[in-house]
Amino acid sequence: MTSETITATAAGTWKLGDLEINRIGFGAMRLTQDGPAFAAGAVPSDRGRAVSVLRRAVELGVNHIDTAAFYFSPLRSANQLINQALAPYPDDLVITTKVGPGRGPSGEWLPHATPEQLRGQVEENLRQLGRDHLDVVNLRIIGTDSIAERFGALARLRDAGLIRHLGISNVRPEHLVEAQAIAPVVCVQNRYGIGAQPEQDAFLRTCGEQGVAFVPFYAIAGAGGEAGAHGSDSDEVLAVARAHGVSAAQVRLAWTLSRGPHVLAIPGTGNPDHLAANVAAGALRLSEDDLAVLDSLHRGGA
Ligand SMILES: NC(=O)c1ccc[n+]([C@@H]2O[C@H](COP(=O)([O-])OP(=O)(O)OC[C@H]3O[C@@H](n4cnc5c(N)ncnc54)[C@H](OP(=O)(O)O)[C@@H]3O)[C@@H](O)[C@H]2O)c1
Repeated sequence: MTSETITATAAGTWKLGDLEINRIGFGAMRLTQDGPAFAAGAVPSDRGRAVSVLRRAVELGVNHIDTAAFYFSPLRSANQLINQALAPYPDDLVITTKVGPGRGPSGEWLPHATPEQLRGQVEENLRQLGRDHLDVVNLRIIGTDSIAERFGALARLRDAGLIRHLGISNVRPEHLVEAQAIAPVVCVQNRYGIGAQPEQDAFLRTCGEQGVAFVPFYAIAGAGGEAGAHGSDSDEVLAVARAHGVSAAQVRLAWTLSRGPHVLAIPGTGNPDHLAANVAAGALRLSEDDLAVLDSLHRGGA
């Protein structure tokens, strides 16, 4: 697969509310440091390389970038890198951010934000990105508590024009029901990929039935999570990759996209070659036989 000639349009499109995007996007979490995300004493990324990855992503047709104000290392902020690389922003670029438990100035995780603090986080994202509204804001949660109060606070910011569309992240089906009763939800961003939480499949289908995008994170990193991809993969994924002349990471991305037209990809990387490969994965068409093998691996929780 000739990565450099394939653009994000190959993956097809989806609408987040009124905002049309290519289904292959980009996650900004890996841009701010080399190695694991959120690590104490992380080595800051090379600024020029991070900026060039973002610009190359847009050149390759990526028009959906996932970010957060809490994506930072000691010397780099993902939002500020996005601002530096891409402002003035292309008209079709959709930037999705997330609010919820934030991080203090030294990087330590803080408890859940109160409704008042959520407004502050929205304003922080606006300042860092240099925008006067946010395209999509996910309420990211930890735990299983009701989200009504916090989601209601974001719905008021949406009514005030600071936010165009709302999503939710790290959530269960009951949270979607709760949120939909307050304001429209355009996306659910949850951990998902081959073998990762097969119990998410029913939720993924529910989202599709309701026209809500399902946006997996750690689709490549899998069990590696914050630490990132570990470099080895299962025999089944490697066999499918070999048959198509692509990488295991590309197979993992193509498989998530095969789960429904409402499933988006936001692969994260600070590596320009990986960026091009991830965009090219949108052109990979897995056969029925490939899907049977990978689906079975997934159901087994591999
Ligand atoms: N809502 C939430 O709670 C939440 C949680 C986590 C992440 N997210 C979002 O989801 C996005 C995706 O998650 P992610 O970035 O952790 O995971 P990912 O895309 O599943 O995997 C990233 C890892 O895979 C490597 N990688 C990427 N492309 C590759 C390729 N083509 N070949 C080989 N290795 C490759 C990266 O290393 P290199 O940098 O070396 O390529 C990194 O180690 C994040 O960027 C963030 O925007 C949201």
